[in-house]
Amino acid sequence: MATAGKVIKCKAAIIWDVGQLPSVEEVEVAPPRSHEIRVKIVATGICRTDYHVVKGIFANIDYPVIVGHEGAGIVESIGPGVTCVKPGDKVIPLCLTQCGECSCCLSPKTNCCLKNHLYEPIQNLMPDKTSRFTCRGKQIHHFLQMSTFSEYTVVPEASITKIHNDAPLDKVCLFGCAFSTGYGTAINYAQVEPGSTCAVFGLGGVGLSVVIGCKVAGASRIIGIDINKDKFTKAKELGATECIAPQDFKKPMNEVLVEMTGLGVDYAFEVTGNIDIVVTALKSCHLGHGTCVLVGEPPAGAQFSVEPILLLTGRKLTGCLVGGWKLKDAVPKLVSDYMNKKFNMDALITQTLPFDKITEGFELLLAGKSIRCILLF
Ligand code: APR
Ligand code: ZN
Ligand code: ZN
Repeated sequence: MATAGKVIKCKAAIIWDVGQLPSVEEVEVAPPRSHEIRVKIVATGICRTDYHVVKGIFANIDYPVIVGHEGAGIVESIGPGVTCVKPGDKVIPLCLTQCGECSCCLSPKTNCCLKNHLYEPIQNLMPDKTSRFTCRGKQIHHFLQMSTFSEYTVVPEASITKIHNDAPLDKVCLFGCAFSTGYGTAINYAQVEPGSTCAVFGLGGVGLSVVIGCKVAGASRIIGIDINKDKFTKAKELGATECIAPQDFKKPMNEVLVEMTGLGVDYAFEVTGNIDIVVTALKSCHLGHGTCVLVGEPPAGAQFSVEPILLLTGRKLTGCLVGGWKLKDAVPKLVSDYMNKKFNMDALITQTLPFDKITEGFELLLAGKSIRCILLF
């Protein structure tokens, strides 16, 4: 492409400091260096995690920063040594790396590649600890080495995967986070069995993706819990068998769920990102074999305490990132399954807006009026 090797000026949304929503600016995007790819983003979703950066409750963030981690686009150019994609390919940047070489990538037991942001003290830069973004002469930080709230972005080779060339980018961008996270937690990580009873706390984009996963897995009961009853219609449309709101009960939700199911649910998924819900979700599990899975990302540093007896009887408490998938391998297959109609996630998309209206997109999320708002460049 004519832009290869050159700096590209384009639109991006920058969070200048904690407490400020992203503002649309013109930025410069430098060409990719070795083992890096520059991507023209076509579509990107807004996730609650992006707002955690606005609020300053996501760990190890340096400002100003370009967030966005649920995008899909087309390769504009590649740096030296890149072999996995070529210009013109349709791709999805990955919020969890898969380098394919580290001990975690070589182990079937985890998807937590050692090259990902959790192990890098400064996660806001490229692997060589420099940035590809500037704005008005200032260096702008990356986010999870993805930054999809930019018309062009640069990602390391371990953070990208090629997808089917006919994939609708305005839909499959959800495989960058929400759908892979929620659906994968049920199907891939927890491995919900047919006939299971499941409880899903939090019916946002990620929680509803868990609901879809539980349904595909053949769960017999899928109980959706949310403080926002507006979420219930869509939850039932996607497979929830019943939906309940905490404010309608005088007793704790774990007591309500144990009463509804006898001895507790087989699987409880915490997808609100609210630390106060973790113990409630755990107590909602069957005392002898129930599994509670943390999916939501609570504020950095948040902690909870658990009475050991809750676990000694046989309950399990666990968690995973992005559905436990090794993303480079899993996302192309998920996109193909979607294109072959193995599941339908289109209902998760409640609004599609031009990128310039990103503030409106965040306002819809904060008002509980969106499940997923997709921004188009
Ligand atoms: N009890 C029940 N539901 C709650 C509670 C609560 N105490 N607090 C919040 N919720 C509901 C909200 O009403 C909302 O419907 O949780 C849902 C969260 O959905 P979104 O805000 O749309 O967030 P989403 O993008 O789905 O992400 C959920 O997963 O990836 C993480 O960081 C992300 O923590 C976030 C979580
Ligand atoms: Zn997310
Ligand atoms: Zn790795």
